[in-house]
Amino acid sequence: MSSIGIIKETGDGSATIYLPDLDETYHSIHGALQESNHVFIKEGLDFVLAESKQELIRVFEVGFGTGLNAVLFSEMAHILQQKIYFESIEKYPIDINLINQLKPFQKVDSNFSFVHEIAWEEKKSINSYFDLKKIKADLLEYNFSNEAYFDLILMDAFAPDKQAEMWSLEIFSKLFQSLKPGGILVTYSAKGDVKRAMRESGFVVKRIDGPPGKKHMLRAQKPNNETI
Ligand SMILES: C[S@@+](CC[C@H](N)C(=O)[O-])C[C@H]1O[C@@H](n2cnc3c(N)ncnc32)[C@H](O)[C@@H]1O
Repeated sequence: MSSIGIIKETGDGSATIYLPDLDETYHSIHGALQESNHVFIKEGLDFVLAESKQELIRVFEVGFGTGLNAVLFSEMAHILQQKIYFESIEKYPIDINLINQLKPFQKVDSNFSFVHEIAWEEKKSINSYFDLKKIKADLLEYNFSNEAYFDLILMDAFAPDKQAEMWSLEIFSKLFQSLKPGGILVTYSAKGDVKRAMRESGFVVKRIDGPPGKKHMLRAQKPNNETI
C-alpha cells in the first residue's frame, strides 16, 4: 500500500483512486458513488432502518479511505433526521493533496474536506445528527472496546484477491462480536470464500443484487438471541 494513488473517473462520473502497486481501485470502476449508495446506503442503512426504527444507529466502517461513505452517511443522517454514530478504521490515511484532487469529481457537498480535517481518535459532530470517529489503526490487530455495540458494519476493505487477510474467519469473528444481535454487515464482495468465512463466524448470509456493473453483493446478519 506504499504506491502513490492516481485519480480515476468512474462510470457514473464520480472519481476514485487507483493504486498501481496493488492494481486496485478504492471503488467500482463502474461508478464509485453509485456503488456506495447501493451497497452501503440502500442495502445497509435503509435496510437497518426498515427493520427497526431506532433513535441512534451505530455504524462501523472497515477502511475510511476517501471518506465517501462517511460523507454519504452524514448527508443521510441530516435528510432523515436520524442520529448516526459512525466509526471508521484506516491503516493508511490518504494524503490530503490527493483528497483535494478527488473532491471536484464527487457530487457531494462540502463535508468532504471536513471529514478529513478532523483529528483521529476523537468523536466529532459533522452535523446535528451525525457524529464521526476515525480510528488510525490496523484492523488485523485492533480490539473493539465494546461487544454487541454496532447496528451496521460496512465491510469496505480492498478486494479479497488483493488483501485476503482482511476477509478471514478471524476478522469476521471479530466483526461479529462487535455487532448487536440482529445487526447487519454489508459488503460489495460476493465471493464464495467470503460467504463461507462469514457463515463460519456465525452470520446468516444472503447474496443479493449488486450495484450497476456488478451482479451480486452480500448482506450478513448476526442472529437475534431468540433465533440462535
Ligand atoms: C476499498 S478501499 C475503501 C475505502 C473507503 N471506504 C472509501 O470509500 O474510500 C479500502 C480501505 O481499507 C484500508 N485498509 C487496508 N488495510 C487495512 C487494515 N489492515 N486496517 C484498516 N484499514 C485498512 C485501505 O487503506 C483503504 O483505505
